[in-house]
Amino acid sequence: MLVRLMYASRAADSVNADALAAILKRSKENNPKVGVTGVLCFCANAHIFLQVLEGGRLAVSALYNRISQDPRHHDVALLSYEEIGERSFSHWSMGQVNMSRLNPALVLKYSEGTVLDPYAVSGQASLALFNELVATASIGVQV
Ligand SMILES: Cc1cc2nc3c(=O)[nH]c(=O)nc-3n(C[C@H](O)[C@H](O)[C@H](O)COP(=O)(O)O)c2cc1C
Repeated sequence: MLVRLMYASRAADSVNADALAAILKRSKENNPKVGVTGVLCFCANAHIFLQVLEGGRLAVSALYNRISQDPRHHDVALLSYEEIGERSFSHWSMGQVNMSRLNPALVLKYSEGTVLDPYAVSGQASLALFNELVATASIGVQV
């Protein structure tokens, strides 16, 4: 049984480009071993992470539980969880949305303002925004 989970969190003050690279490196090493794919989006101006994890129910739950304990972020909030027939992000053990190419109009489409705030909108809106981000922004760190 495949599931898709999406969460948001606030990055710790210490999170910078090097910390982000370290998270992505470890994700690329670990995720293929447990059949998890997904995309991580770091919004630098709001200092917020959005991540989608896809894979088997147990693998996704175990990884989410581990990630939620990570001191590099806090206020981890589950936005969406669903059983799925197929993956949307099967090409990436953990892709990274390039936020430098994020169009503020896209955030505005799903929010009250142009600053990304997944805590203030529905999980459905965040997932829709995320899907558009992935379609329109470039994705790095492919595997
Ligand atoms: C925002 C965020 C996203 C993360 N995503 C992943 C991930 O997709 N896969 C992963 O293995 N670890 C991820 N981590 C790191 C885990 O919290 C944890 O440090 C790591 O899995 C430990 O792996 P290790 O036991 O191999 O050292 C993430 C951490 C943060 C802060």
